[in-house]
Amino acid sequence: MSPETKPDYLISPEGLRVDGRRPDELRPVELKVGVLKQADGSASIRQGKTYIIAGVYGPRELHPRHLALNDKAYLRVVYRMATFSVPDRKKPAPSRREKEISMVIANALSPALFLEEFPRAVIDVFIQVIQADGGTRCASINAASLALADAGIPMRSLVPAVAVGKADGVIIVDLGDEEDKYGQGDVPIAILPPTDEITLLQQDGFFTRDELLEAIQMGIGSCKYLHELQKDALKRAYVRKTPDGEPVEEDEFEDDLETDLGEADMPEEDE
Ligand code: CDP
Repeated sequence: MSPETKPDYLISPEGLRVDGRRPDELRPVELKVGVLKQADGSASIRQGKTYIIAGVYGPRELHPRHLALNDKAYLRVVYRMATFSVPDRKKPAPSRREKEISMVIANALSPALFLEEFPRAVIDVFIQVIQADGGTRCASINAASLALADAGIPMRSLVPAVAVGKADGVIIVDLGDEEDKYGQGDVPIAILPPTDEITLLQQDGFFTRDELLEAIQMGIGSCKYLHELQKDALKRAYVRKTPDGEPVEEDEFEDDLETDLGEADMPEEDE
């Protein structure tokens, strides 16, 4: 792979970004629920070229036991990048960055969970970055919260997340790798709908007060859109299907159930 060079501009004279997006436009997002056979819950996300899989186990008994918390479950998040996920081979040993991002993701997700319902247990969230092209901590949060829901873990809400930033003085959402590297700032945000409380807010780079407020507004708007995509992905995974793969309307489902059972097969009611 040829080494990446700094583009001449990140915002064109027409106001478009290096990949042709408008400042407030997300990359194409594809969310899938239930992608792993072995985990209790799982999900994947493709956001542009960023590709991540999350698997959840638990709540289950925690080993080693001395890590157990008496009043709530321990949310153990492990964020890892595959060796082939970045242009320079990533060393397989866990890096400081991976440990920090694991903690940041756990902090962003935990307000959505009723951890106090499972004292002394652990909920394991394993996140594997298959391909990194910017925004991996936020994409991880999007996938991990879907995987938690898929595992049937009680939640207040899904947690949508996106990075907002600044390039050539313009506030932009969902930074790609070049924008992350050569832009002027990066503000990852995660929210808890419907109140839109903020569970993650970090800032890299310099923003005026007005720019930061604009960035947060833009980020919350995009998170709301991502939340709709998350709900759609869950519905797709759980909707009842006809044999030819069409979704079954709830009323149709009840009718089919009665037809399938048939009057004659119904058990006699006790006199
Ligand atoms: O991924 P995110 O923006 O949340 O975190 P970051 O630490 O700001 O990293 C930005 C991007 O740098 C990642 O998404 C990767 O594309 C890239 N990166 C890399 O190429 N090699 C690494 N060892 C770490 C990150």
